[in-house]
Amino acid sequence: MKKIIVANWKMNGSLEFMQSFIPDLKESFDKSPQRIMLCPPFPYLNALKISLKGTDVLMGAQNCHTASNGAYTGEVSATMLADIGCQAVIVGHSERRTQFGEDDETVKTKASLIHEARMIAIICVGETYQVRESGQANGHVIRQVHASLPTSAAPENTYIAYEPIWAIGTGITASIEEIREMHEVLREVALRPFPLLYGGSVTEQNAQEILKIPNVDGVLVGGASLKKESFKKIIE
Ligand code: PGA
Repeated sequence: MKKIIVANWKMNGSLEFMQSFIPDLKESFDKSPQRIMLCPPFPYLNALKISLKGTDVLMGAQNCHTASNGAYTGEVSATMLADIGCQAVIVGHSERRTQFGEDDETVKTKASLIHEARMIAIICVGETYQVRESGQANGHVIRQVHASLPTSAAPENTYIAYEPIWAIGTGITASIEEIREMHEVLREVALRPFPLLYGGSVTEQNAQEILKIPNVDGVLVGGASLKKESFKKIIE
């Protein structure tokens, strides 16, 4: 089965960066046996869509609002993202949970609107270092999954991304055993066969090994997805 490789550019990049990144990776996109998705910042979505013409690469956004429209200055809705050609939206990323107070209820509402707009919700969950150290990681992540999944969630429209917070952007990847155990737990508790992604310091050095772990259907890549050579190796 194809593995899913999602690039989360976060608030990085520029029009110039994107316009050289895509043509340089075009051959790798065509050759790659994987399902690839790129999630740039909002202002670059439209230009990305144009650059991706003729490829099988999917396009996703990094956030959306909890309402479909209205007086929410500066916000963007799931409907709008679908309208401009997005196929997915990341929700509940730990950076949004910690920096913008996004809780499970918010994530659930957003995911439900993403489904209504016929897109894939990539729902992120993960524990802090303290929670893992106290032996509560599994329970914490199970609670997050149950509280964040809307009733509309199905394996066709929802990916669950396990991203231990202590592994994001730190260069410290969770161990193979930690990933294996958490993904096994997620497979059991999620009840339905949602694709399960791992995220947290995935690089060209560890991607292959991580993708071989049972119940790992893909990876969510931050930092390494901004480096052409690294991302090329990951998707190939
Ligand atoms: P990282 O980020 O690969 O830079 O650790 C992953 C993420 O935040 O999705």
